Amino acid sequence: MESPFDVLSVEPDADEEAIKEAYRETIKEVHPDHGGSAREFQLVRSAYEEIKDGGAEAVGEEDEDRSPAERAEAAASPREGEDPRREQRCRVEYLNYEVLDDRGWDLDEADLMETAADGGLDREDYGQFWVRPRESLLEAAERHGFAWPFACRGGACANCAIVVLEGDMRTRVDHVLPEEMLDEGFQLSCNGMPVTDELQVVYNVKSMPELEDLLLPPRPFEQAHDD
Ligand code: FES
Repeated sequence: MESPFDVLSVEPDADEEAIKEAYRETIKEVHPDHGGSAREFQLVRSAYEEIKDGGAEAVGEEDEDRSPAERAEAAASPREGEDPRREQRCRVEYLNYEVLDDRGWDLDEADLMETAADGGLDREDYGQFWVRPRESLLEAAERHGFAWPFACRGGACANCAIVVLEGDMRTRVDHVLPEEMLDEGFQLSCNGMPVTDELQVVYNVKSMPELEDLLLPPRPFEQAHDD
């Protein structure tokens, strides 16, 4: 899978200026006004954000002499002694379930994500981001500034449920989703970690009828949106 550095065609040890320059060049090339697609445009933008974000987060004493790109790589690498279940970041393409109703789209629709990419949706509703090793999908969404729904964060409700369209996840604790729902692609985002390099998910599916009895009072998400 392409890493954020591959997407921008820069070396992982590139300095900040080189990364910025590569971003400017690449984003121009893939801009829909210049013959690119909305999907490519999102991909390049999220790659740049991932590199920038990783650099800022990983700064420590041992990182002081590293370039932003090297810090980003360090942040994404498994620590010593940890189980490197997935050593690479996973690129996630996400879509808000609420949009399906509004637009008359169906979850089983072929090319749903392509349709969404061309749908002129807000970034909150459709886009891409990278999940780092050891990070749950919900944690990654929050790191990127999104308020995805949750309640317990402990595998005891379905408020954080998502539907996986492509790729696979492993959930550390799940006391709620029955086997048949797992087979249909339902997973918990609060402690579910991708085990594939790429993932397509529909989040915010808690209004689906099959989840109705598995929900806890959904406070944080609604509060975040009501505030
Ligand atoms: S928030 Fe309850 S299981 Fe994820």
